[in-house]
Amino acid sequence: MTMAFARAESAAVADSGGFSKPWRYTPLNVSDAEFKAFRDLIFEKSGISLRDSKRELLRTRLGVVIRSKGLGSFGEYYDYVQADRTGRELVAMLDAVSTNVTSFFREPLHFEYLEKTVIPTVIKRQEKTVMKQLRGWSAGCSSGEEPYSIAITLLESSGLVGRWDMKVLATDISTEMLERAQQGEYSDETLKSAPKRLVSKYFSRDEAGGRRRYSINPAARELVSFRRFNLMTPQYPFKRKFDFIFCRNVMIYFDRKTQETLVNKFYNALEQGGALMIGHSESLTGIDHRFRYIQPTIYQKPE
Ligand SMILES: C[S@@+](CC[C@H](N)C(=O)[O-])C[C@H]1O[C@@H](n2cnc3c(N)ncnc32)[C@H](O)[C@@H]1O
Repeated sequence: MTMAFARAESAAVADSGGFSKPWRYTPLNVSDAEFKAFRDLIFEKSGISLRDSKRELLRTRLGVVIRSKGLGSFGEYYDYVQADRTGRELVAMLDAVSTNVTSFFREPLHFEYLEKTVIPTVIKRQEKTVMKQLRGWSAGCSSGEEPYSIAITLLESSGLVGRWDMKVLATDISTEMLERAQQGEYSDETLKSAPKRLVSKYFSRDEAGGRRRYSINPAARELVSFRRFNLMTPQYPFKRKFDFIFCRNVMIYFDRKTQETLVNKFYNALEQGGALMIGHSESLTGIDHRFRYIQPTIYQKPE
């Protein structure tokens, strides 16, 4: 057992009134000390801040992983993750606890703003440039619905296709989500939120194992590059600044200080005049930043 966890264990023993049954024989309950140890680890590695109310979520999601590995307790699993030098177990643990809910054209206002305001602004800004480039970033892209919706919006915008070098970077901390995103295959149910006209234009349909499956077309797929990237990375490595960033329904899992650091990194990663789109339940109120407020959930780096 690691030193860190041994400390957590003795705290838990104290919590349980001195009852010192070994971790591996306890049922899959998560003690206060175990919850705190995982919460601290998750915060340190991903910025995700788990409140006490998320204890049950942690217990259920990690409980499944623990059993699948034949381990007997949260304590053992903590040590197992810490001992893995490859870092793969940590990634798998973060995969299990992160919330990945997403959908095509979620919060449609942002796609409208991209089409009607962001793209025309970029076109105007580069009027006299020969090598016309447009760069977007879907930060926290989950299983790909957001970056593909962005790609489709770019392809639907007149004047770009064939003339502009367009790229959308799509990043997430979850390798599992990135694998799904790269596959680019979706069900009927998943595509319910996308306009039918766009589904017929940008997806090809086939049947697999009696189930209908839709694959994103190469034109949209080629615009998107998927990468694993932790938003907590201190120095962002991007050479070219972005014309827009979608970081929606990600910051909601971070505390205020982490949000502030992140928002300021986004500011530096954007072109002047570039736009930041955040989720509808998120806001930059109370955060120290230099963005210009456009409307709820939409911000601009001043020109
Ligand atoms: C709820 S999903 C949002 C997906 C999409 N942006 C949307 O609004 O539909 C949040 C995503 O953020 C990712 N995430 C959480 N913490 C992260 C971090 N530190 N770095 C990168 N991605 C992170 C999760 O893995 C998850 O896929």
